[in-house]
Amino acid sequence: MKELKIVTKIVISSYSELNEKEKSLIDLAKNATKNAYAPYSKFSVGAAVLLDNGEMVTGNNQENIAYPSGLCAERVALYYANATFPNAKVEAIAVAAYFKGDFVEKISPCGACRQVLQETEDRYKSPIRILLYGKKEIYIVESANDLMPLSFSF
Ligand code: THU
Repeated sequence: MKELKIVTKIVISSYSELNEKEKSLIDLAKNATKNAYAPYSKFSVGAAVLLDNGEMVTGNNQENIAYPSGLCAERVALYYANATFPNAKVEAIAVAAYFKGDFVEKISPCGACRQVLQETEDRYKSPIRILLYGKKEIYIVESANDLMPLSFSF
């Protein structure tokens, strides 16, 4: 019998330690929470995607009374980016969440969004840097594969 250990590296950063592009991406993700449609959960999530053509596109969670029909902020942003700029590599994504009057101290993408991030990474053959916003600290994961090891594929 063998054992396989999967290790995830997370860089913990403050906002001031980020470079200018990363700061903008975080700012856009925070701002995108304002346009979330979250009347059921009241939990507003914003995501901002940086593309290799320099564009930054945003998304937010869009809920629906038929609950499973809603979509997370990360997938709204990623699908919007891919629909608008299908040939641009996704370089990074920032995620922020707002709940009960304040930003949440870090939110991490759900499993379905991780699967989509992972496939986007495969599609463009380039790691996606994931920035998870918190007021105290920002978690940075260098690749979607780190968040979703053993993702589904065939
Ligand atoms: N949500 C996101 O948009 N992104 C996540 O990473 C986790 C959860 C949304 C889904 C739903 O609209 C609300 O947050 C509460 O779960």
